Amino acid sequence: MNDATTTELLELNQRLLDSITLGDWATYQELCDPSLTALEPESLGHLVEGMDFHRYYFDLGGIRGRHQTTMCSPRVRLLGDVAVLSYMRLVQRIGPDGNALTVGNAETRVWQRRDGRWRHVHFHRSMLIPMSN
Ligand code: GLY
Repeated sequence: MNDATTTELLELNQRLLDSITLGDWATYQELCDPSLTALEPESLGHLVEGMDFHRYYFDLGGIRGRHQTTMCSPRVRLLGDVAVLSYMRLVQRIGPDGNALTVGNAETRVWQRRDGRWRHVHFHRSMLIPMSN
């Protein structure tokens, strides 16, 4: 595995995640391919394509108050000019009651290198819901 490429991809992915929580549309748009495909809880099981679906949430603004995003145990698989990143994403934030809370999601994000630049082309996000039996 190429350590420099792995580090670059993890830094790009962290920028992407931070742009989401900050509501920073310019950075998100810069890092994503316009044909981005996504499966996420908000899409209710449907594959969404393009940027418009995501823009809606950015227009609502980012997370208010102090927050922090952490990729836990990230794994980077390099497949030529494609990279697959898998990890648990934890977002610490202030909840509606004023207390800190942590939201967890399992994510897979795919990046493609074209013309010497990595672009985010696909992701799948599943919210982690505590279960009991
Ligand atoms: N919902 C936007 C993203 O997770 O990339």
